[in-house]
Amino acid sequence: MGRPVRRIVYDAAQIAERVTSLGAEITAAYPEGDLLVLGLLKGSFIFLSDLVRSIHLPLQVDFLVAASYGDTMVSSGSVRLVYDPETELEGKHILLVEDIVDSGRTLNRLMDVLGDRKPKSLEICALLHKHIAAELRHDTRFIGFDAPHEFLVGYGLDHAENFRHLPYIASLQ
Ligand code: IMP
Ligand code: MG
Repeated sequence: MGRPVRRIVYDAAQIAERVTSLGAEITAAYPEGDLLVLGLLKGSFIFLSDLVRSIHLPLQVDFLVAASYGDTMVSSGSVRLVYDPETELEGKHILLVEDIVDSGRTLNRLMDVLGDRKPKSLEICALLHKHIAAELRHDTRFIGFDAPHEFLVGYGLDHAENFRHLPYIASLQ
């Protein structure tokens, strides 16, 4: 399965507790309801499925696919949309759900693309934030954990497509 795991950074119970309270924060932030939760694939798939079950509002779910890292642990810098949501975005409250914010390049590009479609509001929810995103031009309104500056895998996050299924978040050796 590739490189060995160094340590568990967040275990399943810590993640569940934090995701439940994030869901409550999001529920409180949209009193009108009617939210479109847009998950960025593939990394957000487990987080998103837990998160939406903790948001107690009428909502819809769709996904985006942006080509990113490939098999390396270094950001390539170029971001390409390979699947565009079919749902109409105009006039909706959109919550973009990302697994981890690293350089912020992915989000910069996606926020520009989504902002052009005239949503009523557009916010970011990231499970993990490394706080090294000097290039990020947008606030991350909802953050699960302030992540250590290590390469993390599990709970949806991969290294060369491995480790996504782990129920915890770990760092690699
Ligand atoms: P950014 O564009 O540099 O912010 O990178 C964001 C994307 O890179 C995330 O959606 C992840 O797919 C990937 N990424 C960044 N850091 C990590 C990490 O520590 N583990 C796994 N994937 C990461
Ligand atoms: Mg990835």
